[in-house]
Amino acid sequence: MKGLFITFEGPDGSGKTTQMKMLGEMLQSTGKDIVYTREPGGTAISEEIRKILLNPSNLGMVDRTEALLYAAARAQHVEETIRPALKEGKIVLCDRFTDSTLAYQGFGRGIDIDFLKQLNNMAVAGITPDVSLILDINPELGIERISEKRVLSSGGGKDRIELEHINFHRRVRDGFLHIARTEPGRCRIIKADQDRNAVHADIFGVVKEVLDSENP
Ligand SMILES: Nc1ncnc2c1ncn2[C@@H]1O[C@H](COP(=O)(O)OP(=O)(O)O)[C@@H](O)[C@H]1O
Ligand SMILES: [Mg+2]
Repeated sequence: MKGLFITFEGPDGSGKTTQMKMLGEMLQSTGKDIVYTREPGGTAISEEIRKILLNPSNLGMVDRTEALLYAAARAQHVEETIRPALKEGKIVLCDRFTDSTLAYQGFGRGIDIDFLKQLNNMAVAGITPDVSLILDINPELGIERISEKRVLSSGGGKDRIELEHINFHRRVRDGFLHIARTEPGRCRIIKADQDRNAVHADIFGVVKEVLDSENP
């Protein structure tokens, strides 16, 4: 049985976590088997790598180290979590994946895109998303949303990536849009500045289309 691999991409505060949960609950209510996972992370080893990547004290991390650590976490995640779940026919919902590498390390940091594509290919070893939902939002609004979330939850300070300058986040957003336009088959741009039910309806529309095309 073939599973379905759906990735949620887009800037911080675009609603990935919120929408993953809403989609997962909707699909679960129709009897589907759902696996929720995230990058960097999704396995014990990859969660350890996540801590290094997001630790605000690691400001001295050079760009290539960052790119290689994301790739290392991904390789482990694919083999330990994603590939086995897909083999069992499950629907895997993943918060960030290969497009985030291109958007952040490529468009954000300026690392060569072709090099990053090769690195991604090595990390995923043949596993590619069936559909990637690119949640598009003005980065100022995204940052405003996560600041509000922090006040509400009295959560800690910003992580290492969130601390980047607004221009970095603008390049990341443009990067996501560029990727989506170059791979229109796999990627779907979702307007993320709507209320959460409207965003969910758009996402469900896309996923239903994909499910219907797999089981006509
Ligand atoms: N459509 C929306 N409109 C307004 N606020 C939203 C919307 N979707 C999510 N939020 C809120 O914005 C914050 C960031 O959402 P989240 O899902 O954590 O984004 P991400 O995972 O992409 O960083 C949360 O506090 C969430 O409740
Ligand atoms: Mg999130």
